[in-house]
Amino acid sequence: MVRHVISWKDWDGKEIAEMIELGIDIKNNPEKYNEELKDQSLIMLFEKTSTRTRLSFEIGMTKLGGHGIFFDWAKSNLGITEANLESAVMSRYAEAIMARLKKNETLMKIAAGASVPVINALCEKYHPCQGLADYMTVKELAGEYSNARMVYVGMYNNVANSLVSAGTALGCEVYCVTPEKNAPAHDEELLEKARKTGLFHETLDVKEALDTDKTVFLYTDTWIDLEFITNPDFADEKERRLKSMMPYQLNKKMIEGSEPYILHCMPIHLGYEMNEDLLPENYAKTKIYRQAENRMWAQMGLMTYLNRNKE
Ligand code: CP
Repeated sequence: MVRHVISWKDWDGKEIAEMIELGIDIKNNPEKYNEELKDQSLIMLFEKTSTRTRLSFEIGMTKLGGHGIFFDWAKSNLGITEANLESAVMSRYAEAIMARLKKNETLMKIAAGASVPVINALCEKYHPCQGLADYMTVKELAGEYSNARMVYVGMYNNVANSLVSAGTALGCEVYCVTPEKNAPAHDEELLEKARKTGLFHETLDVKEALDTDKTVFLYTDTWIDLEFITNPDFADEKERRLKSMMPYQLNKKMIEGSEPYILHCMPIHLGYEMNEDLLPENYAKTKIYRQAENRMWAQMGLMTYLNRNKE
């Protein structure tokens, strides 16, 4: 049976670690892999905007000897029929489907009809490809997952879910400092699985979360889903959230007395979830560009893993 990458809660730590090791090996020895996906095609279905995901998947496919084809939801016939019928057809053209959709429900319908792997490139619940790149960055900088602590500060959202599920599966401590939760992202099953590892912690005290001898990765993300940022109907809620979340802005004052690596999945809203004083030119341990670059290598590892392990 074909396996899809919807959320890391469906995969074990050994499998995730293997994808990351492949990503690291591809990054260090790209020439070894330049025919890995020769003549293969990846359909890249987008219902939402993107910079990193679009570019890293398409260029990653090219580097592996294959081809990524951009497929715009708005210009497709997906909106006027059943998504599973369309994905059954898509599976006859391409070896894999990557999809960035507004609703996990639609993604699940696409996965139900597909006979090739479907890779979730962000929905309201999960962002597994982001999590994979983030832990590749942790592996590179901390050496071992067990030597690292991921501290996520901000709105509990799709990215937080992927950090919690992938991190705890890999053996990394994960602290969440999330005074507000984005309701559509809630997944009790995922949280329960993470709690059982003993590696997942929740607190509202940033200093407590940063207080460890381990290598700390302090991470944040937008406080508002991208499609709502300029939506006038969301203006009041946006104002409320900005006020409520401001004490949790990542800035030099927050990290006084510690020296964490700083991560952000980008795009950044400077002056909101992260201050300018933590940009790489102002703080050497901010690794946002390495992290964004690793989206490409980690996804190449993921696609190589899926191709090598298909049944
Ligand atoms: N982090 C991320 O998914 O970036 P894009 O939205 O630009 O793809």
